Amino acid sequence: MMSKDFRLELTQRPRRLRRTASLRGMVEETVLRPEDFIAPLFVVDGKAPPDEIKSMPGVFRLNLTDLVRECRALRKAGVPAVALFPKLEPRLKDEEGTEALNEDALVLRAVRAVKKAIPELTILTDVALDPYTTHGHDGVLTAGGDDVDNDRTVGILSQMAVLQARAGVDLVAPSDMMDGRVGAIRRALDAAGYSGTGIMAYSAKFNSGYYGPFRDAVGSAQAAGTRLLSKATYQLNPANRREAISEALLDEAEGADIVMVKPAGMYLDIIRDIREATRKPVAAYQISGEYAQIHAAARLGWLDLARCRHESLLAIKRAGADMILTYFAREMAEALR
Ligand code: PBG
Repeated sequence: MMSKDFRLELTQRPRRLRRTASLRGMVEETVLRPEDFIAPLFVVDGKAPPDEIKSMPGVFRLNLTDLVRECRALRKAGVPAVALFPKLEPRLKDEEGTEALNEDALVLRAVRAVKKAIPELTILTDVALDPYTTHGHDGVLTAGGDDVDNDRTVGILSQMAVLQARAGVDLVAPSDMMDGRVGAIRRALDAAGYSGTGIMAYSAKFNSGYYGPFRDAVGSAQAAGTRLLSKATYQLNPANRREAISEALLDEAEGADIVMVKPAGMYLDIIRDIREATRKPVAAYQISGEYAQIHAAARLGWLDLARCRHESLLAIKRAGADMILTYFAREMAEALR
């Protein structure tokens, strides 16, 4: 029979340090700051008002004027950096992604506008062809059309990176997962006189189902009439851990300044592995599907948005990320103030 005054004789009672808010604060191991976040932003041409992405509540495609306004608000909230993603009109897309090398391309005009208005804000741009190709792949296709032509793609990406550096980008972010692209981009940047422009490599980018809302946002889901888009020949298999570490080490050897893991929340083990394998800063990208899931459940009344937002980001930082790309950047930064 268990008596009412049953007592354990414990030396260690871990709950002692959870007794008051002040004690809990003293032993808190991971703390989120506005400086931890990078805000991905979608930009469109023209003068249309902000256009909300259906599967990403609170995320809008912005024209250049609204983009600059949003960047000012982010800066004011203490967010140090933005990652710009263009959404092109379909008429500008082709098989080869030609528009990516237009010196007056939308994303380059966006970079110049933001740099001019808020010079101290760090700007990242994606180096990949998916917003520019009719088929939505990150590169140009082989003659047979059933694969991406790795080396020809890398040649184009290197030129793209130079255009971005010339427009004033601080960090180019190759997100295509082609072999050898970090080294080629580094050489191209240096040869063009941009040795100060950094590379944040999407090193461990997995072939994820959770990119769905992003592909809606930039219109890269799949071209009308073609077979379902699979990026499995270049993005990592979600089953693979050693391969992810090896990709990060390769990118470091090729000249990456920062290595990234993407998605973030389902890949915390990979973030930790890469944190331990390299001394470079590690970034993690909490992607569109992670954001959409939290919002969808909150809308149904099944999860508390503010708590789960905070917890999801805290977990990514605890796993070892030095910086986090997240669509929650502004609201988190504002909530932390
Ligand atoms: C493609 C790219 C993708 C994202 C960033 N750059 C998606 C893809 O590979 O199709 C995803 C970001 C997100 O889902 O939030 N170069």
